[in-house]
Amino acid sequence: MTDKTVTLAIDGTNHPYPVLEGSVGPEVFDVRKLYNETGMFTYDPGYTSTASCQSAITYIDGEKGILLHRGYPIDQLAENSTFMEVAYLLLHGELPKKVELDDFTWTISRHTMLHEQLMTFYRGFRRDAHPMAIMCGVVGALSAFYHDSTDITDPEQRMIASHRLIAKMPTIAAMAHKYSVGQPFLYPDNSLTYTGNFLRMTFGVPAEPYHVNPVIERAMRRIFILHADHEQNASTSTVRLAGSSGANPFACIAAGIACLWGPAHGGANEAALNMLREIGHTSNIPKYIARAKDKDDPFRLMGFGHRVYKNFDPRAKVMKATADEVLKELNISDPVLDVAKELERIALSDDYFIEKKLYPNVDFYSGVILNAIGFPTEMFTALFALARTVGWVAQWNEMISDPEQKIGRPRQLYVGATQRNYVPVGKR
Ligand code: CMC
Repeated sequence: MTDKTVTLAIDGTNHPYPVLEGSVGPEVFDVRKLYNETGMFTYDPGYTSTASCQSAITYIDGEKGILLHRGYPIDQLAENSTFMEVAYLLLHGELPKKVELDDFTWTISRHTMLHEQLMTFYRGFRRDAHPMAIMCGVVGALSAFYHDSTDITDPEQRMIASHRLIAKMPTIAAMAHKYSVGQPFLYPDNSLTYTGNFLRMTFGVPAEPYHVNPVIERAMRRIFILHADHEQNASTSTVRLAGSSGANPFACIAAGIACLWGPAHGGANEAALNMLREIGHTSNIPKYIARAKDKDDPFRLMGFGHRVYKNFDPRAKVMKATADEVLKELNISDPVLDVAKELERIALSDDYFIEKKLYPNVDFYSGVILNAIGFPTEMFTALFALARTVGWVAQWNEMISDPEQKIGRPRQLYVGATQRNYVPVGKR
């Protein structure tokens, strides 16, 4: 805390509120006593000016395009780390020593299988079910199988649940894909890396050995790292809000998956690729740019813009380089890529996009890469959910162990009818 205060003058009375200082980033003023002292709430739909918690996990400076996990820049992690190392860092706060990393990796690998009975859940879904619908259902159902890790007051159980979620998510997502294409499920192979194992479970078949392409594995690893956490975004806030009531971790992560699904959040990678396909040819781009600018048209260029990044998305920079690597390796020529490159070029030089600071975000390029690797579009958001699970469990653990944690309970500005008497149906 600083000595600084922010004073609100309400009806001639001054109300000072203490200013809290973080390690870096904007200060906040603490309005927790505001309602008791003044009878007023703050009004902030979309939480554009509200810090909902203290956190030591991820820092974003949207103006400068900075993203740090526990202080480490995202580009350094994407270049040098494994996904297991980033998971350990997010969960425990420090980069692991070699023995800690080996131990963590071993522990995660021991939890990659699913309870055999969970497999039968998949058969209850239609073959054309969206993988995110399956993920919501199966992850929520984990709480029916792993009762020994649902006591959230026990830090050891919380950590076991976190390990289980991180470990099982690739198996759950890969099985959602296998089910949709009618191929047999593949059990995990713990001799592979986290990413290699996921690629094998998704694209391998039991009839043949599967060779992990190192360029694809590296690209997937980067995609996972770039999506691992992102401060108090909508799905993370959903996980925290669900968890604030004491709900079990599997239920909380299922809530996060549901929130992530929306096209303004994790669903944007799928929506971006669908949009590129709809545009179809570079000659159609001006029409779509015109639509994006038209105030009467709800159309938005998917994969552009961000609530926090108003300069550039540092994840997009790494993702773009990765896209170039993968496309070169796979020697792919796809009209969708021509549309993507041209759209990026036009949007970056167009006044409307420059003025509104709308840059390609992480999802613009990730869709292009995942498409080239061979993932069906519906799987894109499921991969985001897989990677973000690490951030969700880290944030959930941080929230539960925060002594200031309370059940999340926003208030409202009520604009409905005032009290009136009931009128029987025949007299209305
Ligand atoms: N295309 C065209 N215009 C846009 C776009 C876009 N993608 N995004 C924002 N604008 C305009 C918007 O119409 C508004 O104009 P005006 O000021 O004239 O009303 C202005 O820019 C500000 O938009 P906003 O909706 O107030 O901004 P926001 O911070 O609430 O929204 C966003 C951020 C990401 C939801 C939005 O930019 C968007 O819908 N983008 C497309 C979806 C997308 O790619 N989402 C993925 C985000 S990155 C992954 C993640 O972290 O989940």
